[in-house]
Parts: sequence; C-alpha cells; structure tokens
Amino acid sequence: MKELKLILTVLLLLSVTTIADDYVRPQPRKTLHLPWHSKSSSYPQQVHISFAGDKHMRVTWITDDTSAPSVVEYGTLPGKYGSVAEGETTSYSYLFYSSGKIHHTVIGPLEPNSVYFYRCGGEGPEFELKTPPSQFPITFAVAGDLGQTGWTKSTLDHIDRCKYDVNLIPGDLSYADYIQHRWDSFGRLVQPLASARPWMVTQGNHEVEHIPLIKDGFISYNSRWKMPFEESGSSSNLYYSFEVAGAHIIMLGSYADYDEYSEQYTWLKTDLSKVDRKRTPWLLVLFHVPWYNSNTAHQGEGGDMMQTMEPLLYAANVDLVFAGHVHAYERSKRVYNGRLDPCGAVHITIGDGGNKEGLAHKYITPQPKWSDFREASFGHGELKIVNSTHAFWSWHRNDDDEPVKSDDIWINSLVSSGCVDQKRTEIP
Ligand SMILES: *[C@@H]1O[C@H](CO)[C@@H](O)[C@H](O)[C@H]1NC(C)=O
Repeated sequence: MKELKLILTVLLLLSVTTIADDYVRPQPRKTLHLPWHSKSSSYPQQVHISFAGDKHMRVTWITDDTSAPSVVEYGTLPGKYGSVAEGETTSYSYLFYSSGKIHHTVIGPLEPNSVYFYRCGGEGPEFELKTPPSQFPITFAVAGDLGQTGWTKSTLDHIDRCKYDVNLIPGDLSYADYIQHRWDSFGRLVQPLASARPWMVTQGNHEVEHIPLIKDGFISYNSRWKMPFEESGSSSNLYYSFEVAGAHIIMLGSYADYDEYSEQYTWLKTDLSKVDRKRTPWLLVLFHVPWYNSNTAHQGEGGDMMQTMEPLLYAANVDLVFAGHVHAYERSKRVYNGRLDPCGAVHITIGDGGNKEGLAHKYITPQPKWSDFREASFGHGELKIVNSTHAFWSWHRNDDDEPVKSDDIWINSLVSSGCVDQKRTEIP
C-alpha cells in the first residue's frame, strides 16, 4: 500500500512538473457559508442585471414576501428616481423547497456608458449599474464553472478589480446540484458584481437538475437567470443572442437539442443570417462543453455538437468561441475541423472559475497542433475589443490571491483578415 502511494505520488509530481515548471498549483477551497440574515420579508435579495434587448436591462431579485411589488425605480442621480418600471414575477417549488418571489423587471431605454442608480420593490438599498458603451472599446470578463468556494470569491474579487463592461459565463454557475438553497447563497455571493454590470450566462451540466418523472431540468436556472431569449427570437432560455458595442454574441446550449432537426439548430441558422458585420464586426459564441480540448477531463464530450454546429459557425466567420466544463484554461490557434485554418475560430476553454471540484490537471501529450496554451489553474479572462480589427485577450490566474497574467495575445478579427469576403457568406 505504502509503495503504491509512493509510486502514485511520484507519477503525480512528474505530471505536475512537466506541465507548469515553477508554478505550484493551489488546492481546491471549501464551499463558502453565506447565511441570510433576514431583514424584512420584502427586502430585495440576490439582485442581478442582464441585457433585455436594445438599450434595455432586466433587473432580477428575490423577496421572501410573495406580495412584494415588482417595481424598479431608477435615475442618473443617487436617491432621485425619475423613472419607474413594473415587471413580472415567477416562483417554483422543488421537492420540499419553495423559492421566494422572483422578480424580473425590464428598465429602459437607457443611455450607453452611463451610471444609473436604482432601487428594487420600493425599499432596501440603492444599487448602481453602468451600461456598456455603444462603441469600441469594450471589455468583457469571462469565467466559467464558478461555484461558491473560496476560489470563487478570489475570482470574483479579481473580476471586480478589472474594468469590465459585461460578464460572460459559459455555464456552471452555483453548483447547487439539486440543493436549492445553494442557488440563493450563490445569488447573494454574486450580487455585489452582478447588480452593477450585466451578467450574461448560459447553462452547464450543473444547471441540469432533472429528476425523472418528477422534475424537468433547468427549472431553477430558468426561473432565476432569465436571459433575453424572447428578445432574440429564441423559444428557449437555453440559447439566445445579444449585441453590444459592435459585437454579436451567441449563447448556445450544450444541454439543449442541437441536431439538424432541433429548434436550436434552426434558431442558430436564422440568428447567424441576421449578423451584419458592418454593425457588429466581432462575432462571439459561448457554450459549456468545449469542442477543442486537449485535457483528459471530458475528452471528446463536445464532439457531437461540434459535428453539427461547427460548419455553421465557420461559414458565418465566428471569431471566438468560449467554453467551460473542463476545470483548466486552454487557448487554441485559429482552427476548423481539427486543422489549423486562418479563417477558423479561436477556441478558449475557461472552466476554472473556482468550483468545489478542483482542477483538471492531466493533458494529452503531445500537445495538439491547434493548442497554443494550456494550464490548470483557477482564474478569469478579459477580452478587450479595441476596435473593429483588434482585440486583446488575457488570462489571469488566481495566484496567492493576486491576479497574475499568465497568457495574453492580440487577436485580429476575421473581418480584418479578409476571411469574411473570401468565404461564401451563405450558411450551409
Ligand atoms: C485598432 O487598434 C490597434 C491596436 O491598438 C491599432 O494598431 C490599429 O491601428 C487600430 N485600427 C484602427 C482602424 O483604428
């Protein structure tokens, strides 16, 4: 037994040292305890905002009181609310759990690049949000597989310190994993950031809370994290798109049907055909399960979706694809159909937000040609789109609680590389 342990330790050390020479990777951290000190039952909690169509923002919050009003008062000066909007509500039950009242209220039209002050349900604290700019430059924070551990907190602190306009999450938010009150604690954990900048999310496997014959998956996710699917012509909260400052961003569902006869496939084709590269020179796609992944974790899992949908994305000249799922970071070169292609997308796996399951350390060797950088550490990414031709991508790992930049690269848009004109613009 002792010998076996020794051999395993040596093997582990060897594999660790071959990947990242001098960097000692930290251990997973414990799940945070985030108790709710009940104020009044109508006190707004778990406030977050997301885009809701052109110039509009959806404010979401929860109250214990089921008769609390769904109004948002807002304005550009603190304490002075010249505008008021009324929204809709939902709630759900899950086995022995009953959610509070979940309020979704759309505010707007809002001016770009402006600070607004707002209050939910006519009481409680004042929140402050900033709308994104209407033109470049714009900065996106990107982090997947967040969870609610000490590492999540560290990732969130680093995201908070970078000057970002929009947060993009390619799936796996709360890691509630059927324990519903963990969705509430996650909502409280992210509120300071998510009430201030739009958080745009798509689903991961940890959002699927399916109990055969009793509960459909996604009831918690869909009730709490309503995204602008109606605004983008989709019939499901699991896939949608939005536009901001010269970028068209498509959120796909790795856990919704994606075959050629599926609604998602049809919707994606329609959405891609509407993209106008003069209005939005940058085209980004996010989903949970990566198509290009040289980690042994979840190896090949994205294959089916890739087979049906990659040709659509390629024909449409998608610049960048973000995925999560694998708890590590990897960036590809421009690639299509497994081969380097100057008109293919850059694929980035960033499932290292800080979840409780820890990191995925093992990689396939030799490193595939398309893989440009890979490392198993917790962290977040920042995409600064400078103008229609240039974007700066950087990945920051959580090193001793300081955001250390470990990978960065200038990315040229496919519009500027001539790919958009060269390739047939028709979607197959
Ligand atoms: C876009 O930004 C890059 C990087 O800052 C710069 O080199 C380039 O000249 C800019 N292009 C235009 C058209 O402004």
